Amino acid sequence: MYNSRITGLGYYVPDNVVTNDDLSKIMETNDAWIQERTGIRERRHVIPGGEDTTTTMGVKAAEIAIERSGLTKEEIDFVVFATLSPDYYFPGPGVLVQKELGLRTVGALDVRNQCSGFIYALSVADQFIKTGMYKNVLVIGSELHSKGLDMTTRGRGVSVIFGDGAGAAVLSRETDPERGILSTHLHSEGEHAEELALIAPGMGKRWVTDILEDKDGEDLSYYPYMNGQFVFKNAVVRFSEVIMEGLKKNDLTPQDIDMLIPHQANLRISQFIQQKFGLSDDQVYNNIMRYGNTTAASVPIALTEAWEEGKIKEGDTVVLAAFGSGFTWGSAIIKW
Ligand code: UT7
Repeated sequence: MYNSRITGLGYYVPDNVVTNDDLSKIMETNDAWIQERTGIRERRHVIPGGEDTTTTMGVKAAEIAIERSGLTKEEIDFVVFATLSPDYYFPGPGVLVQKELGLRTVGALDVRNQCSGFIYALSVADQFIKTGMYKNVLVIGSELHSKGLDMTTRGRGVSVIFGDGAGAAVLSRETDPERGILSTHLHSEGEHAEELALIAPGMGKRWVTDILEDKDGEDLSYYPYMNGQFVFKNAVVRFSEVIMEGLKKNDLTPQDIDMLIPHQANLRISQFIQQKFGLSDDQVYNNIMRYGNTTAASVPIALTEAWEEGKIKEGDTVVLAAFGSGFTWGSAIIKW
């Protein structure tokens, strides 16, 4: 039985910075409200008409991660791609990555677990490596929200929160059982699926002709819906539970955490968890102020930045945790 270890990290965000003041010019919102409720100061949006897509952003992040891993593209054995905003309804972006990166005809799996997507994807990759089936797996979380948000006052409760970007990790075989991904913990509660969802263009409740007939764009099921306060209340409980579950599994306590990377859903959620576990500012990494919530990309972008800033060192205990649509939630406990 092998272990798996992150050997390369990378991220990419579009250059286009959209501040809270920029948003207040197109909808009734303001910098004070957004900062006070979420901590967000600005986010990145792809340039309308530009080249960036969920796939291309993921590819850019992946190229950096592969280079840093010291591997060649030929050595990548499998791709796991997490997103809720694929370029096409099908096929998913995994196969597009195989083409864009010029990988061998390796398997490419698409993961649909929204804000928890990267942790689910990491867990899948970890299992493939632990069983010995693959040696090096490329894991990507990428998200392009800005093209699909209701950028009017009607949608402000959701649209001010989300941003675009991508993060990637290369996971490689590790022979030391005490180093690398020690454990992952995944959960779901489908009862609350519609509390944070984008209903269209799914085939469950509608026909494709409904979509074609909606010429005025008045059908709100094309936009993400979020019952914000309900999601918030569940998030703080589930984040706490799944972090504790991971720590206990490895005989660790919150004070053993060198770096907690929470999914960047809301700075208030991160601060609540930090306080609950008695962690210092140095033990928790947040960048929601600069990028907003980038769902599946948020954990790998934050992890990469924390690593680039020298805040993660060899031997550190790093905890990743996420909660979001599904509801789904998860954690990963890593010995760096
Ligand atoms: O990543 C997946 C997981 N997601 C989360 O964990 C998000 C969890 N939820 C949240 O972070 C918060 O619920 C939000 C930030 C989304 C919203 O904050 P809130 O404190 O729950 O606000 P609210 O939805 O209860 O709205 C309060 C007021 C309302 O006005 P009234 O009815 O009190 O007059 C809203 O219409 O704020 C209004 N409002 C806004 N005002 C200015 C909603 N959005 C905005 C806005 N600008 N952008």
